[in-house]
Amino acid sequence: MIGLSNQPPVAGGGPVDAVGWERLGPWTAPDARPLTPRCRRADEVGVSSQPLPVRRVRFAYPPDMDPAWIPGRPEFAHMANGLSLLMPYAEPLFIKAVRSGMDELDDAQRARAEDYIRQEVGHHRQHALFNEIIRARHPGVARVEGWMKRCADWVTRTRSRRYNLAFSAGGEIMSFLLARWVDTHAGELFAGADPVATTLFLWHLSEEVEHKSMAFDVYEAVDGSKLRYALAMVQGTALLGFFVWAAALVMLRDDGRLWRPMTHVRLARWAISAAFELFPAMLMSALPGHHPDDFTDPLYLTTLLAQYDPETQTMPLWESPGRTAA
Ligand SMILES: [Fe+2]
Ligand SMILES: [Fe+2]
Repeated sequence: MIGLSNQPPVAGGGPVDAVGWERLGPWTAPDARPLTPRCRRADEVGVSSQPLPVRRVRFAYPPDMDPAWIPGRPEFAHMANGLSLLMPYAEPLFIKAVRSGMDELDDAQRARAEDYIRQEVGHHRQHALFNEIIRARHPGVARVEGWMKRCADWVTRTRSRRYNLAFSAGGEIMSFLLARWVDTHAGELFAGADPVATTLFLWHLSEEVEHKSMAFDVYEAVDGSKLRYALAMVQGTALLGFFVWAAALVMLRDDGRLWRPMTHVRLARWAISAAFELFPAMLMSALPGHHPDDFTDPLYLTTLLAQYDPETQTMPLWESPGRTAA
């Protein structure tokens, strides 16, 4: 069981604190999340027309933060770090794609798309700061980042506007489904983890849940071909898997964990678990008539966003009982 901390910010201080924690009771990992869609259309639930709040959350990490920020699961920390390294290249691509379809939207949707862009800018800026900590300890990841940049530039430069939008819509659905998997397994994955780093990822994933349909709606306004969407999603999945894996291997090598059999047993177990969550739902999302709002939102991440305090620009800080407060 995981609870939200009632402790002050970790050493080094910072604007991410425990404001609002007392409004959340102890949280139990919801381990029986249905994969099936709730079969309600976007116009019935009205989600797609809701404004997207822009939350400016800043993160102050402990000066000596270990990039293997989950002591009991350093392999998972490095997989998450690999994802973080990708954000400054993937999210600008999504932003450019959505921006390219703005003219096809009505006023309300255009305003929502602008909010979406502001959310994504906040995400990749915060990840860029976090990535400096990773790079300082693992300079070898810069080579993988070079591959990420070249790949994102290639997709933007050589693929059509429609393909870039399909790629973005698929990427957003993958992000949403990954958030749903993390929500279900958070109790295991983040036990004893650094609270500030954990909060960075949970905040980002929560907003991915919130704007899961935005890029898809723009893609539908511009093109909407489910075949193109499926092809782009397959390509995006392969690239994401390759880049995250490559970056994680660099960090595991630096930590002397690369040749330990348990490292790969654990990585394989998480990859298989995530694949069982993601792949059937990705297939479902490519079926005619399916809309992202048909997917059930994860409970905890949605609750977490409700705890954001706009006055202090703070989120509740994640802490697990397995960690000793600084
Ligand atoms: Fe994002
Ligand atoms: Fe996103």
